[in-house]
Amino acid sequence: AASDVAVSEIPVSVMKTEVATKEVTILYGSQTGNGQALAESLSKNLLAEDFHVSLFSMHEFKLNSLKKIENLLLVVSTHGEGDPPDNALPFYEFLFGKRAPKLDHLQYSVLALGDSSYEFFCHTGKEFDERLEELGAKRLTPRVDCDLDYDEPFEEWSTQVLENLKERLGSAVASSSQVAVGAGATQQSSYSRSKPFQAEILENINLNGRGSNKETRHLELSLEGSNLEYEPGDSLGIYPTNDEKLVDELIAAANWNPEETVHVNKQGERRALREALISHFEITVLTKPMLQKFANVINHPQLVELVASENDQALKEYINGRDLLDLVQDFGPFDIPVNDFVALLRKIPARLYSIASSSKANPDEVHLTIGAVRYETYGRERKGVCSVQCAERLESGSTVPVYIQRNDNFKLPDNPDTPIIMIGPGTGIAPFRSFMEEREEIGAEGKSWLFFGDQHYVTDFLYQIEWQRWLKDGVLTKMDVAFSRDTDEKVYVQHRMLEQSEEIYRWLEEGAVVYICGDEKNMAADVHATLETILQEEGALNAKEAADYLADMQKQKRYQRDVY
Ligand code: 2AM
Repeated sequence: AASDVAVSEIPVSVMKTEVATKEVTILYGSQTGNGQALAESLSKNLLAEDFHVSLFSMHEFKLNSLKKIENLLLVVSTHGEGDPPDNALPFYEFLFGKRAPKLDHLQYSVLALGDSSYEFFCHTGKEFDERLEELGAKRLTPRVDCDLDYDEPFEEWSTQVLENLKERLGSAVASSSQVAVGAGATQQSSYSRSKPFQAEILENINLNGRGSNKETRHLELSLEGSNLEYEPGDSLGIYPTNDEKLVDELIAAANWNPEETVHVNKQGERRALREALISHFEITVLTKPMLQKFANVINHPQLVELVASENDQALKEYINGRDLLDLVQDFGPFDIPVNDFVALLRKIPARLYSIASSSKANPDEVHLTIGAVRYETYGRERKGVCSVQCAERLESGSTVPVYIQRNDNFKLPDNPDTPIIMIGPGTGIAPFRSFMEEREEIGAEGKSWLFFGDQHYVTDFLYQIEWQRWLKDGVLTKMDVAFSRDTDEKVYVQHRMLEQSEEIYRWLEEGAVVYICGDEKNMAADVHATLETILQEEGALNAKEAADYLADMQKQKRYQRDVY
């Protein structure tokens, strides 16, 4: 993506001055783009103080130059079951490998991003932090672990880092402002994650036919007047609100007064409890840290026992699939001031959705493909906060707060002639619609191949007419579909890929870029294994060579994943 390149391609020599120690390297490892955005913001803060900053995505950083660096700041997220983001993998393997260098000359600090509702909270950040110390590096500022609501901890960490750098290095010479230009002059819009734009809903339809097990919404939102810009592969952040019915049940079960005012932020703003629970706080997820704090406050014997138990298996099981209403029903009502209770809650986080449109094809609009999440646990129907709001409560004409989240890890190749292979079952189809719209708009000549899958051909072939038109017009070269529940035996996208091993291998050898979007745990892992199989069979590689081939593709940005 242009903006990323602008930053990382500034030759290091340009940033060098006679005062070598004023140089700070920032590396980010980021799956969804949060880590990148924070790294850029950190870079701006340092540049404003005249530090010389080199900012890289971890996979673009020349590993052997680590030995020459004196000041290193890492911003890294964790995803899945404690895994590093894809673009952190080469750096991760390098640091943890046998050939990791001694780093006695290095001082560093880590900002770890994560989600405390997951077991391996901030795991990758912790690993980097410990490993750097092991290799002899000195911690400049203690690591900070950020939950979903990372703005404040980030600001605190960034301020601390800056102070410590100034203390150790003295204030820097003022000569480097030319470097500042690249890093962050990315968006003209005055709207951002911390100041979202109220986007009007233009269209909201169900893409699934009658009788489907699924409800996948196609949303069109207006960005008119926002100056917000995006590219295919970017995401839209939406700030959702909680289901009012659930909020009312919660308030009733806890015996609270819905009109009582509570603090909604550290600045001391207050709102009526009901509004606070609808718009400001997360009520559908329980986290370990929250229950631990809560147990201290309410002193309920069973809850204390649950939290205190040696092995935290019981606690893990309890929080899995339960929400605040369960907590109140199981342990409440509580005789603590409601304000103290609310103080334990996390802010309601924005949800990120891969954008399904090209802005070139749809000026001032952004389209999304959102699967409504509904399931039952513990005798009650549960609803995905944002997806069901989109399905049930966002009619045309209503508005919703949004922002653009850039994602440089999922981008069309710069060269429009480069072949692309797109694998996106279910809502994983979204970014590929944006790819096709974009390639059609710019008249790209590169070949393209789509693998799509869902349950039933008749009801679940998302955007079928559009795909068939692109196929007819040659924007799309090939399409293979796998409808898993139309036949006795399940057929998935990876089965279709195997049927076409030879041709896939040929495309790979021709330099095709492979994109996977959708379910991470099962689909993306199976597709990865299938690619390895194809490489082994068609390229006569052994297992290690096939894995290396894919790792190499990943380094060259020829294997990109947007998985969740
Ligand atoms: P299923 O629900 O019938 O199992 C989009 O959700 C499509 O992905 C569905 O057809 C779903 O099939 C399929 N799917 C489920 N698990 C998968 C996996 N491990 N790999 C590929 N596709 C999968």
